[in-house]
Amino acid sequence: MMNKFLSVVSTMLLLSLLSGCNPASSGNEQSEPPLAGATIGGSFTLTNQDGGKSSDTDFTGQYRIIYFGYSYCPDVCPVDLQRLMQGLALAEKNDPTLAEKIQPIFITIDPERDQPEQLKQYVAAFHPRLIGLTGSVEEIAEVAKKYVIIYGKREDEGASEYLVDHSRQGYLFGPDGEPVALLPYDGTPQEIADEITRWMR
Ligand code: NI
Repeated sequence: MMNKFLSVVSTMLLLSLLSGCNPASSGNEQSEPPLAGATIGGSFTLTNQDGGKSSDTDFTGQYRIIYFGYSYCPDVCPVDLQRLMQGLALAEKNDPTLAEKIQPIFITIDPERDQPEQLKQYVAAFHPRLIGLTGSVEEIAEVAKKYVIIYGKREDEGASEYLVDHSRQGYLFGPDGEPVALLPYDGTPQEIADEITRWMR
């Protein structure tokens, strides 16, 4: 879920990060990944769905699909995650070796409610290898900033059932944690699978 203000700010941030990075491209003939050189991402150490710690360096050598959201999100997050993970599953079906080369990661922007046990149930519903990460309010704020994700509680909602507006991005990062591409989270599984494999070496 996100409101228009967040959407516009988020898009402007991304555009400002991307401007000047890439020469004009011609769609599928593009040789340079769309996010090459963008200032998005970085190191993190967060708490995973099993209660242990997971760091970006745990995934060195693997591509990463990273999506930020929250498990209580009533509509957008579950639909995006389902599409992204269906796309990944399709790509894996076409090339079983991909399973070792790519790690899907869900990072909550609602750490107060998304405790490890809550995330464990949630991520299992989308893909058997999807990792769910949470942390302190401060840790999540720091990671979200690095990954250009804006979010905020809706103050007009009841205390227990509040909604959180948040940026919506399906990121593909490379084996060294470098940004590679934005996945079409509202596309078909085939379109998502194509975009995942397009940039993998
Ligand atoms: Ni959401």
